Amino acid sequence: MPAAKQQKNPPETGNAFSLLKRVLSTYLLPYGKVVGLAIIFMALAASMTALIALLMEPILDDVLGGKKEEYILPVCLAVAATFICRGGSTYIHTVLMNRIGQSIVADIQRDLFSHFSKMDMAFFHEHTSGSLLSRVTHDVNVMRIAVSDTLTGFGKSFFTLIFLVGVMFVQDWQLTLAAFVILPIVSGFVIYIGKRLRKISKATQTRVGDLSALLSQSFQGIRLIKSYNMEEKENTRISEAINKVRDLNIKTVQVSTLSTPFNETLIGAIFAAIIAYGGYQVLNDQMTAGELASFLTAFTLAYEPLKKLSRLNNSLQIGLGASERVFDIMDTLPKVQERESAVALETKTPEIAFDSVVYQYENTEKSALNNISFNAPSGKVTALVGASGCGKSTIVNMILRFYDVDSGKITIDGVDIRDVSIQTLRDHIALVSQDITIFNDTIADNIRYGKPDATQEEIKAAAVMAASHDFIKEFPQGYETVVGEHGVKLSGGQKQRISIARAILKDAPILLLDEATSALDNESEKLIQDALEKLEKGRTTLVIAHRLSTVQNADNIIVLDHGSIMEQGKHTDLLKKDGLYAQMYKTGIKA
Ligand SMILES: Nc1ncnc2c1ncn2[C@@H]1O[C@H](COP(=O)(O)OP(=O)(O)OP(=O)(O)O)[C@@H](O)[C@H]1O
Ligand SMILES: [Mg+2]
Repeated sequence: MPAAKQQKNPPETGNAFSLLKRVLSTYLLPYGKVVGLAIIFMALAASMTALIALLMEPILDDVLGGKKEEYILPVCLAVAATFICRGGSTYIHTVLMNRIGQSIVADIQRDLFSHFSKMDMAFFHEHTSGSLLSRVTHDVNVMRIAVSDTLTGFGKSFFTLIFLVGVMFVQDWQLTLAAFVILPIVSGFVIYIGKRLRKISKATQTRVGDLSALLSQSFQGIRLIKSYNMEEKENTRISEAINKVRDLNIKTVQVSTLSTPFNETLIGAIFAAIIAYGGYQVLNDQMTAGELASFLTAFTLAYEPLKKLSRLNNSLQIGLGASERVFDIMDTLPKVQERESAVALETKTPEIAFDSVVYQYENTEKSALNNISFNAPSGKVTALVGASGCGKSTIVNMILRFYDVDSGKITIDGVDIRDVSIQTLRDHIALVSQDITIFNDTIADNIRYGKPDATQEEIKAAAVMAASHDFIKEFPQGYETVVGEHGVKLSGGQKQRISIARAILKDAPILLLDEATSALDNESEKLIQDALEKLEKGRTTLVIAHRLSTVQNADNIIVLDHGSIMEQGKHTDLLKKDGLYAQMYKTGIKA
């Protein structure tokens, strides 16, 4: 059966306008009031800039030209007050916009993480942790810069431009109209550059994701890299990834700055034309020198916001590139979803049943489970044995709904596990998985993960039962020892015992033990086996073990081969049958 891809909502991303609308309505709208306040202060700052241009006229015509002494003080005070007011309002709108930008980042990051946590395991196999990490940190920050740059840029530059154009109109409206014939030319160029930038931005975010993926993989695999003398190879790989990011970043600036020489040339030509025409008007007494000076000041001051507005599209497009990637992820729906009609699972004596279960991992050729049917009765121990890769862990993963069956069903007390809430399902299960997860936290907190409100005594009791208390005591900080990333300060067997203590503490009616004692020496294994046997009493237990000796006492042993059940029964019956199990047992193959 072909593997289905992750489901997606109808793509809303793609077109710049709908992307922008989505960013604004989802993330900016909640801050509407603050945005409004910021805009008021932007308008205030902008009007002050225009006032400066306006003041050029009395300075030149009345103070300098008209030699009116009594005008000097008020004009100077007005100029000073204008600058102070502009400084104050710029400060306020910058602070407000930054606050909005940072809050939006936090909102998107929270949404992204909470979305990630709802995704199924297949999603995490598709995406490397590095690339997910870079979406939460890098892409979201690019979005923030775009949102605050665009808003501030647009708000302030737009107002400044409007006010300054107003001043120019007052001074000479015909000249103003003539000066702005350049606008359509500038806009065409701006749109062209914007399109290119959005593409480059998307490529950059992807490459940054690749780079973080490579980096995190190297840090995690540092032991392997060193033992195989692969430092050079890793250096080369990472430096290639770094170079790709560098090249794209260089390209971004190259493309976005293209507008500068283009704009400068255009503006220079128009500036010269205004001086020529205005100078002629002043000489013919059709305009005062003060009016021309005021017009030129307004035009010069208008140039800055015009440039900013034309560059604005650049940062907007870069931000949209990042938003596209962020929304792509947010629109990916988990295949494992809770049904609306889901009920809470409530049972103390669960019986698990697989009924003709078929499952195939995404992008694989063969199904991992073919027509699997068996019962794991309540209070009994069911063992899964079989060669590596035969599907044992997959069975465990299906019970936890890390994946959903392709066909058939899994029931607990006769209820399909897809009809119960995922949370209550997992509340009923304590898992000791094959790949042990230890967080960079204290030993006590790592055990407490099984029951967040556990007391110190409960944690210690679980550790004693999992034969961990003695080695924990030997650490200078005991239970408060921080164990390092992935528990690097612990041995393999110690990690395994801590994960068993965690499961013991959880005290759940279903116990799933996937190679729970594989890393232990004979003596510790014996100790833990005894503890686990006590623990298994009254629970529904599924045990996976390579060493057949550890599952001999199981109530039922299920023998798997290539995703199918070959035989099942008790140890002695299976030996008598002289089938696959007997063969594995006799040859002593670590099945
Ligand atoms: N995430 C995955 N994506 C694709 N294929 C997978 C994935 N996980 C497991 N498989 C494949 O599914 C099959 C069953 O894997 P599973 O982990 O259940 O084996 P197992 O019996 O637990 O083996 P082992 O004893 O080595 O732990 C294997 O062929 C494996 O390659
Ligand atoms: Mg396995």
